[in-house]
Amino acid sequence: MPQHEAVPEKVIFFRRVRHSIFPGTTRSVKGREGYRRFFNSLILHFRPRTVPERTLRLTLTWGLGGMAVVLVLLLMGTGVLLKFVYEPFPGKAYESILHLQRDVTFGQLIRNIHHWSGNTLLIVAFLHFLRVFFTGAFHPPRQFNWIIGLGLFFTVLLSNFTGYLMPWDQLAYWAITISTAMLAYIPGVGRWLQVLILGGPEIGPATLSNFYAIHTAILPAILIILMPFHFWRVRKAGGLVIPHSPRENEKNRGESVETIPNLIMREVVVALVLLAVILVFSMLFDAPLESKANPGLSPNPTKAPWYFVGVQEMLMHFHPLFSLFIMPVLAVILLLGLPYIDYQSDTAGVWFASSKGRRMALIAALTAIIVTPAGILADEYIIDLAGRSEGLPGAISNGLIPFAFILAAGAGFYILIKRRYDALNNEAIQAIFVLFLVAFIILTVTGIWFRGPGMKLMWPY
Ligand code: HEM
Ligand code: HEM
Repeated sequence: MPQHEAVPEKVIFFRRVRHSIFPGTTRSVKGREGYRRFFNSLILHFRPRTVPERTLRLTLTWGLGGMAVVLVLLLMGTGVLLKFVYEPFPGKAYESILHLQRDVTFGQLIRNIHHWSGNTLLIVAFLHFLRVFFTGAFHPPRQFNWIIGLGLFFTVLLSNFTGYLMPWDQLAYWAITISTAMLAYIPGVGRWLQVLILGGPEIGPATLSNFYAIHTAILPAILIILMPFHFWRVRKAGGLVIPHSPRENEKNRGESVETIPNLIMREVVVALVLLAVILVFSMLFDAPLESKANPGLSPNPTKAPWYFVGVQEMLMHFHPLFSLFIMPVLAVILLLGLPYIDYQSDTAGVWFASSKGRRMALIAALTAIIVTPAGILADEYIIDLAGRSEGLPGAISNGLIPFAFILAAGAGFYILIKRRYDALNNEAIQAIFVLFLVAFIILTVTGIWFRGPGMKLMWPY
């Protein structure tokens, strides 16, 4: 007697329904194997068949690149949903967010996920940038991928910035007002650029619609173009850098293992954990929303979005021409040029270049931790450069002089630490990078937590 005759009719009905949804699962073992192979070959169209086992170590990538991808996809998904309700007009934007939060099922949650993912993405991309730098993954053949990475970072930064204005509340309105006011200090084209971005002489309806179009169409399109380019370059470089200790032979790639399941499973786990964390966080903490934007009443203090507060803090100490233009432009040029410097050694794959490099980086970080707050306090309470050099234009007394001083101090630090440790230029450049990076982080922390009304220094409580 054929076996299915023994199965009750109801069961057969459910099996038929299940078969209509997942035809593969009710097939024979051989049939299922065929499906599995088909699915795997689909994955292998854009992933290599095998990867060096060493690159799977969590301590190489910390899963950061993969997390950034997941967050971008999550932002695109939730962003499209937000578009169904959000209205980019000054008279309606704030109300549409209130409506979204109060009346739309899961509206508040979707907004929270979008808000927290955007901010997390900036931090994750920054940490990924640090891991790439500190494992020397910008050496040939990865030089250009570093440049694409910088492009991605800039796009993510602008996405956060343009998104910031959307809720049209007091926080958004005034943060964008003071951030865009900074543009006016770019020599020559500053004012023109400001009018172009704002869509007029000041922030208004044209600004919101400009930001909306840039946020929901132009920047996502740039991400969609740059991301595959980034991954293709990883592939062309023969995969990720091979992690190894300073004494090991770099050419040793070690064993290779199958991508499926070794790499894919790890990626799925990282993605699921990240999604769970974002979801739980978004259920617990709402995205901020203050009262509706009031162009006649600026909050005190008025701060830029948190990622620009470091620059705003520099503005407290240097003439705008230097803090808002010369220093940021110099930083960008140095970052773009970084992979093309003539290095004495290829340290790709070694964390912090060497054990000596690690020690030097630590000393640079400690120096910045001591010198930066001391400099901020001294400038606030003791030094009065502008007052002392009366008669000189501000761009010189408060700009060129302190700027030249910082450049000289940086150069002095470079020479001293390189000689003291008899170091390679790789290690000394890394130390200088750490010095300025930590200084910038301290400026950011100061601006966020230690500045109160009137932007006066204060102790947070
Ligand atoms: C939206 C932002 C970004 C995304 C989605 C992204 C994604 C990825 C992924 C998935 C990988 C491979 C796995 C890993 O290293 O974790 C990778 C590698 C890499 N990324 Fe990014 N990245 C982004 C930003 C950046 C930035 C800001 C930089 C540096 C300026 C950068 C430079 C690199 C380099 C050089 C590699 C190759 C690393 C190696 O060979 O070990 N990326 N990126
Ligand atoms: C890297 C990608 C993105 C980032 C970093 C980002 C970031 C942000 C941020 C920080 C906000 C303000 C959220 C708030 O506090 O209310 C925002 C709002 C918004 N975003 Fe995005 N976003 C991204 C992509 C997208 C995409 C692809 C879309 C749609 C196609 C989109 C649509 C929106 C809309 C409609 C709003 C206004 C709603 C609101 O403010 O809650 N976003 N975005």
